[in-house]
Order: sequence, then structure tokens, then C-alpha cells
Amino acid sequence: MTQEIYSPGLEGVIAGETAISTVSGGLSYRGYSIEDLARHGTFEEVAYLLLYGELPNAQELDALRKRFAAAATVPAPIIDAIRQFPAAASTMDVLRSAASMLAHWDSDVADNSHAANIRKAERLLAQLPIVMAARQRLKNGQETLPPKNGLSLAANCLYMLFGSDPTPVHAKAMDVSLILYAEHEFNASTFTSRVIVSTLSDLHSGITGAIGALKGPLHGGANEKVMDVLRAVGQKDNAEPWIRSALARKEKIMGFGHRVYKDGDPRATYLKELCNDLARETGNEDLETMADVIQRVIWEEKKLPPNLDWPSGRLYHYMNLPVELFTPLFVLSRVAGWSAHIIEQLDNNRLIRPRARYTGPERRPWRPLAER
Ligand code: ACO
Repeated sequence: MTQEIYSPGLEGVIAGETAISTVSGGLSYRGYSIEDLARHGTFEEVAYLLLYGELPNAQELDALRKRFAAAATVPAPIIDAIRQFPAAASTMDVLRSAASMLAHWDSDVADNSHAANIRKAERLLAQLPIVMAARQRLKNGQETLPPKNGLSLAANCLYMLFGSDPTPVHAKAMDVSLILYAEHEFNASTFTSRVIVSTLSDLHSGITGAIGALKGPLHGGANEKVMDVLRAVGQKDNAEPWIRSALARKEKIMGFGHRVYKDGDPRATYLKELCNDLARETGNEDLETMADVIQRVIWEEKKLPPNLDWPSGRLYHYMNLPVELFTPLFVLSRVAGWSAHIIEQLDNNRLIRPRARYTGPERRPWRPLAER
């Protein structure tokens, strides 16, 4: 007999076990606080930590960087396909298609062993930034740029987009945002990836499905919608009346609220410091003030804190990144977390198959077509 436990949206339900991260007592990845990782680490070290369970030593990190460099190439037919995609296709949709297509050229695609899945995860971490940058450049009528040897993954994202080495401040800001986006327990996209591979499907399918789940504005898509809010407000004097009237109309303000963090998202708190610095450096103090007013009023009125997407949208804007790349950047980072979860799921797999509470009609007799 199954005991019926029902929680809409699975809120508060423990749907599995993980050793990868926890939100208890602040967010930590494999025991390391995200503040320590963001302050002292690099995205490469964090990706290694998520995939292998421990921080790398110098030799291991060097070997990882070499593997990333060796894997940093995307098969020509995929780039050709991207050239053919309609200009209106969103970058998220292009990434989702590319993650699926990359499977066809991955020699480990059908190997679901722990070691093969780590190899595939590392390759996707190296390949998807190339896809994102290639799509953007081709859409703008520019030729694609290969990644530059010796640059970090974060710096290479910017290099492949803009064609010049990023400043150290921009490279660091990108690196920190990738660290903060890398992993977050049983969120919707991660859970999607675990459900997919729990059928013994493969890593590329799990990542493709996760990208589809991340795209929605209630999840990763919110960082793009944040810029719509700031654009609608327009200028800092308009911030207070605008937000008060939006709340009075019961509008949902993107970048605020969280299913788990009801008092504050530690990632948002951390990224806010970097936002302040970049806003000063790029002459965007007014936008930052506008954001502060909105944040204060939403807290006063609704007791809703900002989530990570609130500062990250602005951070990317200060770095001159086009809005349609905000959620794709989230993907490039979260591939590390999704892959770690896929591997953890497969290491101790049980098919994820919950039950539903039936709310349809009672049993009734079949009615022949002529009688309906
Ligand atoms: N703006 C205005 N009101 C809000 C917001 C918001 N952003 N978020 C929640 N509320 C209100 C709800 O309307 C509801 O009010 P009510 O009780 O008067 O009906 C109350 O707060 C509780 O909200 P729920 O929707 O039940 O909270 P839930 O846990 O289901 O949702 C979610 C969490 C989806 C993130 C929600 O806060 C939201 O839609 N936020 C905006 C989208 C967003 O920023 N997503 C990014 C998430 S973080 C990430 O993916 C990195």
C-alpha cells in the first residue's frame, strides 16, 4: 500500500539523496561554502570539485585545463547547422539543439559508466561555450573565433564573443558568476536531468532536457527578464512609484523570491558586491541605485528577497553582454552541476517514478461513436 503524500510543486519533499551540495546553513558545494569558492577558487576548480568530489591539486588542475583545451572544438556539421538555424531561434534553443547534436559525435555516447560520464561532462563544458559564442557571432554576421589557449573558460567565453582579451575585472566577474551558477541541489532542471537518466538514458539526453527546463522564466530564464524590469523602470526617480504600482497590480517581479531561500539567497548577496564594483567602473551607478530601491520596496511590501538572477542580470549587462546570452551563460556553468547529479544518480540508480493523485471522472461505460 502506497501512503499518499502530496505537496503541490513537490514543495518541501525530499525527493532523493545527494552529496553534491546543500542549502542548509548557506549554500555549499561538497562541503565548501560558495563564498569561499567564489572568493578563492576558479570555475575550473569548482567544476573539478563537483565532478570528482574533491578540490584538485596543482597537477590535477593542470591536467583538467589540458583536457578542456583538447576538447574545445565543435564538429563542423554542428557549426554549419547553426548557420542554417532561423535568426529568430533563441540562443537557449540553439544550445539545447547543440547539446543533443554533440551526442552524435561523442565516442562515449552510449557508455554510461562513471568514467565515461565524467569524460562527456568535461567535453560539454569545453564545447558549449564555443556553441554559444559561434551562434552569437554568426547571427551578427561575424565569423566564429576558436578559443584562445591559456585563457580560463570564463575569459574564453568573453574572448570568443568580443574577439579581444577581457580585462582582469571582467574575467573575474564572469568566473565568479559561473561559480555561483554551477550547482544548486534539486532545482527543476537538475531534477529533470536526474529523472531522464534514471531510465538509464544517457548524459547528453539529461543535459538536453535540463537546458529545456532551465529556459523557463520561473527558473534560469529569470536573469534575462530582470533587464525588462529595469528597462521598464527607465530612471532611478521612477523606481519607487513603478515598483509600488507593479506590486499593487500583483505583478511577479523577476529576480525575486525563491522556493527554498525565504530570507535571502546567499549567492545574490555575494554577487551584489561585484555588481557595485562593476557599476562604478562602467558608469552604471544609477542602474544600481534603481535596483536597490526596487529591492528595498519589495522587501518592505512582500518580504521577498532577491535571488541570484537579480544581480547577475545587471552584472552581465555591465559587461556589455547581450540579454539573450544571460540564461545561456547559466547553462555553460550548470553543466557541471547537472553532470555531477547525473553521475550520482547513475552510480546508485533507482527509476524515478512517482504517483499522481487522480482527479478525473469516475469509471464510465464506453459509448459508441454514433451515440456521442
Ligand atoms: N514577485 C512578486 N510576488 C512574488 C514573487 C515575485 N517575484 N515571487 C513570489 N511572489 C509571491 C507570490 O505571488 C505569492 O504571493 P501570495 O501568497 O500572495 O499568492 C507568494 O509570494 C509565494 O510565492 P510562490 O509563487 O508560492 O513561491 P514559489 O516557491 O512557488 O515560487 C519562484 C518561487 C517560482 C522562484 C517565485 O518566487 C517566482 O516566480 N519568482 C520570479 C522568477 C524568478 O526570479 N526565478 C528565479 C528563481 S532562482 C534561479 O532559478 C537561479
